[in-house]
Amino acid sequence: NGTGAAVVEAPLAPVNLQQVDANDLDKIRELGRGQFGSVWMAKWLGVEVAVKELLGQNTPRARAEMYGEAEMLAALRHPCVIAIYGLVVNQEAPASVIEYVRGGSLKGGLQRLKQHGYAARRVRAAIALQAARGMEYLHSRRVVHFDLKCDNLLCDLRDLHRPVVKIGDLGLSKKKATTFVSGNMRGTLPWMAPELFPNASHLEDDQSEDRVTEKVDIFSFGMCMWEIWTLGDQPYPGLPLHEVFAGIMNGSLRPSRPPDCQDDWMEIMMPCWADEPASRPSFTEIAEALDRLVTVYE
Ligand code: ADE
Repeated sequence: NGTGAAVVEAPLAPVNLQQVDANDLDKIRELGRGQFGSVWMAKWLGVEVAVKELLGQNTPRARAEMYGEAEMLAALRHPCVIAIYGLVVNQEAPASVIEYVRGGSLKGGLQRLKQHGYAARRVRAAIALQAARGMEYLHSRRVVHFDLKCDNLLCDLRDLHRPVVKIGDLGLSKKKATTFVSGNMRGTLPWMAPELFPNASHLEDDQSEDRVTEKVDIFSFGMCMWEIWTLGDQPYPGLPLHEVFAGIMNGSLRPSRPPDCQDDWMEIMMPCWADEPASRPSFTEIAEALDRLVTVYE
């Protein structure tokens, strides 16, 4: 760094979190396995929790990311955002201990509803409303999610009169959009706003980073609303990824109107996909519109 001083690695363990003793965790059943590790349903001194373990890619960088996500979650508290209880700070098997949400991912929950032929509009509006409330809270705390999709939402749909949805994975989230580094792709392709793509011709100027704001989450939320209405369909089935990429970027590709989709749902969903980020609504506006839908559908 030019000063001759040793570069000291930043402390990796967050300060404000309860440290959980791995011996107090009783792993019951694996819920999922991803690129970086696995998620377990476990009992922590007898209480149901979810445990996210880092496995395989357990590098200092992966650990720092896990602890970063944990610290961010620890500073947040909202009924529609997953709660974190603590961390197992252990070089070999670091893990975060979070709230267990019984239905698992909303994507799976929606698909189960579809199998059972269940599709009440009010339920779908109530599900979307909770996701919007969780996101409204994140944005109020200046957290941008960057990877909002139904796969990353958690649900409990046992009582469809009172569905529960929580923002469940903040792995890619950042405080304030300005921390975005261009060229560092964030998100999942069909859910990504056009301004997130590198080399977009209209973005090749110094303003490209300014264009990446919290409005990227609004674009993704429109995709979530489409997933919720279709009860877990995959957007653009069969379309090659490079065509999805090009289509989103030049504005020619947006999900088509699901058969049976009502105007009032379209009127909330479509503005989320505006090319111009500033033209997209806020989560407060979306939540208020969805709140009215829940009432109308009742
Ligand atoms: N899958 C991933 N995280 C989960 C959680 N917190 N609860 C239930 N299933 C999950």
